[in-house]
This record gives sequence, structure tokens and C-alpha cells, in this order.
Amino acid sequence: MKKDEVVIREVMLRDGLQNIVDFIPTEAKIELFRLIVASGLRSIEVTSFVSPKAIPQFRDAAQVVQATAKMTPPGVEVSALIPNLKGAQLAVESGMFKVGLVMSVSESHNINNVRRTTAESIDELKRVLELKAKYPGLVVKAGMATVFGCPFEGKIKPEVTLGFIRQFYQLGIRDMSMADTVGFGNPKEVKEMCRLAVTEFPAVSFSIHLHNTRGLGLANSLAAYEAGIRVHDGAVGGLGGCPFAPGAKGNTSTEDLVFMFEEMGIKTGVNMDALLEASRYFQKVKKDIRYSSSIIEVGVPVPKGAITKDGSEQKWNM
Ligand code: COA
Ligand code: ZN
Repeated sequence: MKKDEVVIREVMLRDGLQNIVDFIPTEAKIELFRLIVASGLRSIEVTSFVSPKAIPQFRDAAQVVQATAKMTPPGVEVSALIPNLKGAQLAVESGMFKVGLVMSVSESHNINNVRRTTAESIDELKRVLELKAKYPGLVVKAGMATVFGCPFEGKIKPEVTLGFIRQFYQLGIRDMSMADTVGFGNPKEVKEMCRLAVTEFPAVSFSIHLHNTRGLGLANSLAAYEAGIRVHDGAVGGLGGCPFAPGAKGNTSTEDLVFMFEEMGIKTGVNMDALLEASRYFQKVKKDIRYSSSIIEVGVPVPKGAITKDGSEQKWNM
């Protein structure tokens, strides 16, 4: 990746869907994946191998992985979320070899989300890593939730997150994600946390996962970019939210992220028209939810044409 490029990881099929109670048909998920790929997005989280009792939406995780694998062009990376060893096993059995184990850096949210203490989640991670003996191609990412605040414990100190990053690093993990699960973070904190992480661990590929709960999603993304983060999660339509984190709202919308970066001359590789087709498609599949994306709402700027003084001014009237 060049210095002035970003990879937007599309998480709509995972984060975007996990908060939707009605089951979205597997075929619709697959069609959405096709449209997402067609837009030029190169990194896609396709599903979640979690307990179907916890999130029934993902009971078709294996089918989604198998179907999307056949449609994944070279250069596009697909991944799935897992909360435990069982999730990892189900993932590899279905042919998914890039998994992100989710763990909250706050004890309370980790217990609420995956019913484990953070120490238990680290043990789970170690067991997942042991699977590499049988599946050498398995890549395990560590996803840290609630880095910028927890709905139960409030702000989390960067030192706490750094402590987990050090443990993951010692376990050999080189791909880590920092998430603002409920939208507590501000650009100053995001920049500082990211700066601390990339400075201490230059060999780690860090990504940022932001929720636009309080309107700071884009500002936080830019702050992370300025601190050196080049992988940014986004969700088509600004959907998303953790069902086990009260107050969690949608991810920063992919459409808005693409617009911001491209307007700044930072390449995303995404074609906006094609991306909007993905949003339009899903808006037909699921009408009764709140989409949150400025670009979906008003589109990209299109000048209406110059106005000349010819005696009939005020051609354009809102
Ligand atoms: N995939 C599918 N099924 C799973 C599973 C997984 N990853 N992990 C556990 N299960 C099943 C078990 O087989 C068991 O099924 P059974 O009751 O039919 O025997 C049941 O779930 C309970 O297993 P257990 O190990 O006791 O899990 P738990 O009750 O402690 O639940 C989690 C822990 C992590 C599995 C569950 O809380 C979960 O999936 N949470 C999802 C969190 C999430 O996705 N949050 C949003 C993303 S941030
Ligand atoms: Zn999220």
C-alpha cells in the first residue's frame, strides 16, 4: 500500500447485520457481497461465527463463506469475526482462513459480549492459535473492542489497550484492530492511541473500527489516518452496532469514508457509483431501518452550472 492510499474494510455484512433482528436471506447477503466487490472494496468481513443463540442472523455463516469464496477475485481479502475457539473451528471447516477474534479491552463489555473475562479471552485466543498447527494458512487477527470507551465502565486508558497489544504481539499476532464500539472517542484521543500503538509496534498492521454514534466517525478516522493508520473499517449505509453494547449505533458509512479520502487525494480504489448501487440494493432488501450516510442522503457534489448576471438572477432557489 502506498503512503497516500487507504484500504477500507467493509464490515456491513458482519457489523451492519448483527444488529438487525430479522433474518436477511442468505441470497441477499451474497448479492450484497457481489456488489461490494464490484465497487472495488478489497477487504471484506463477510460474516461472524458466533453462537446462533447470541446472534441468529449469522446462522448461515458457513453458507455465506462458501458462496462468497467462489466469487472472491484475487487481491480481495475476506475475513470473519469469531468470539472463541468454536467459532474458529467452524470458520476453518467452512473454508475461512482469516479470522478476527473479538475481545473487549474493558472487562465488563467483554463479559457482556462474549461471556468471558479478558484473561479467558486471551486463553481462547491461544487455543485458536494452536489451530495453526493443523491449518498453517490460518491468519488470526486480534480485534479490540471498547478501546475508546465502554458503555459500562466509561473511558479506557490507552495503557490498558497497550497492555493487550503487547500480549497479542508476544503471541505472534501482527494484525490488530482498535474499535470505538459505542462512539465515545474523539479525534484527539484516537490520534494519541493510534500514535502510541504504531510507534511501539511498527511491525503490526493496525486498523481502526469506528462507530459514528455521536457524529465523530469521520473526524476520528482522519485522526487515525494522520497517526499512520491505513486500514479503516466502514459499513455500507452506515449500518452497524453491537447488540451487547447499549447505545451502540452504526459504523462510519463506507460511502462517507470513500468521499472524504478521495476528495483529499487519498486513494481508496472504490468507485462511488458502484458503491451506491450496493447501498441502494440493501435499502430495497431492508427498508425499515435507519441508514446513516451523508452521501446516500445528498450525493456527491454536482455543480449546477455557473450563473451569469443577465437580469434574471436567483435561478437556483432551494
Ligand atoms: N459458533 C456457534 N455456536 C457456538 C459458538 C460459536 N462460535 N460458541 C458457542 N457456541 C454454542 C455452543 O455449541 C453451545 O451450543 P448448545 O447450547 O447447543 O450446546 C452454546 O453456543 C453455548 O456455548 P458456550 O461455550 O457455553 O458459549 P457461551 O454461552 O459462553 O457464549 C459466545 C459465548 C461467545 C459463544 C456467545 O456469547 C456469542 O456468540 N456472542 C456473540 C458476541 C458477538 O457477536 N458480539 C457482537 C460482535 S462485537
Ligand atoms: Zn463495530
